[in-house]
Amino acid sequence: MSATLFNLQRDHLAHLQRVYSDILIAQEIDSLAIYSGHANVHFADDQTPTFQAYGHFMHWIGLANVQHSWLVIQPGKRPQLYLYAPADFWHLPTRLPEEPWVAELDVHLCSDKITPPLTGRAAVIGDIHCLEASTQQAIQAEHEPTALIQALDELRLFKTAYEIACLREANRLAIAGHQAAQAAFVGASGELDIQLAYLGASRQRESDVPYQNIIGLNSHAGVLHYQHYDLHSPKQRHSLLVDAGRRFRGYCADITRTHAGPDAPGVFSDLITAMHGLKDTLVQSTAPGVEFVALHEQMHQHLGEILIAHDLFKGSLEEAVNEGVTRAFCPHGLGHSLGLQVHDVAGLRHPDGTPSPAPALHPALRLTRTLRAGMVVTIEPGLYFIPMLLAPLRKTSLPVNWELIDALAPCGGIRIEDNVLITESGYENLTPSQ
Ligand code: GLY
Ligand code: MN
Ligand code: MN
Repeated sequence: MSATLFNLQRDHLAHLQRVYSDILIAQEIDSLAIYSGHANVHFADDQTPTFQAYGHFMHWIGLANVQHSWLVIQPGKRPQLYLYAPADFWHLPTRLPEEPWVAELDVHLCSDKITPPLTGRAAVIGDIHCLEASTQQAIQAEHEPTALIQALDELRLFKTAYEIACLREANRLAIAGHQAAQAAFVGASGELDIQLAYLGASRQRESDVPYQNIIGLNSHAGVLHYQHYDLHSPKQRHSLLVDAGRRFRGYCADITRTHAGPDAPGVFSDLITAMHGLKDTLVQSTAPGVEFVALHEQMHQHLGEILIAHDLFKGSLEEAVNEGVTRAFCPHGLGHSLGLQVHDVAGLRHPDGTPSPAPALHPALRLTRTLRAGMVVTIEPGLYFIPMLLAPLRKTSLPVNWELIDALAPCGGIRIEDNVLITESGYENLTPSQ
């Protein structure tokens, strides 16, 4: 661990200690128990799905796969970590990392699953519904107080210098995967082999990815959350879309790149270049005080310009935006908050915790906040040829160039996604250029 990261993590923990104390005192809570969560076995089986610890638990210790464990926070006292570490010859015992948090917390290795010791007015947060009923009843605490969750979510929205360093490192590792994926595509690999190349170069096993990698060849690039990996490479190679990340100390990278294959029409490469330009323009527009909804609307304006400039739409910019043409080509939001969860918390709230839902015309937008220094967001404009969304447009008289769209349909679509820190003076792009 570098000396810098070491010091940054110590400062991060001191910050959490301070702010948690302030929040608990303000909300008159004497003890807070945070449950890591645990994976449940599949029905009638003894195997579990992959697991990710609760975000507010990871905020302190950064371990994404700790289960059956508790963190107890009391104002003015050292945090107590009850780490489940059974004496078990089937598995390797829990090992503590050489990181400062280990010295800042009292760590109790527990051979049994425990109920956390709580005093005074107590609150518990985390997925305790998956605990046995008797354990749930034994925990004498208010479950998930709304004001507390809102305050802790709000805290997660603004990253400390340590968290930013972790997000930067997650990006660096993920980009190594993206480079390997591109090379595998150039070498005519299929989706599964591209996925394996990505995992190998980004140094992670599949169960550790922050979200299921999207590796879509050809029309699969137009399936927004495409979830399969074909074993064989297709005969024709029009396109590859890779939306894939990496965790570092719990913090997620979320990066997308799209590549043209040898069988794509030339205009597809031009569109990819235009979408990179659009991503850069939108990244450069991020700054404190900018409304993310306005930035999303700006994306639609630019998408309209791109559709017109590349002859996909022969009408006016106003028509492209106001008649829903751009929305048919890009149904998702411009981006979201990023942190310990790939779609991080508090994106659809006002600072005081009241709801701030997505606008009716853009229901998939996951972030409606005013940008402030310390937020980390994704900027991910997209342009897709999705038959289901284009079908209603075909029934209109809008001047869409269907011949060109049909020629591009086998390419699926384009998304370019970077991860951006909002700074006091503007922004820093955490994603290395590739
Ligand atoms: N990888 C999911 C997303 O970009 O939001
Ligand atoms: Mn993504
Ligand atoms: Mn994203």
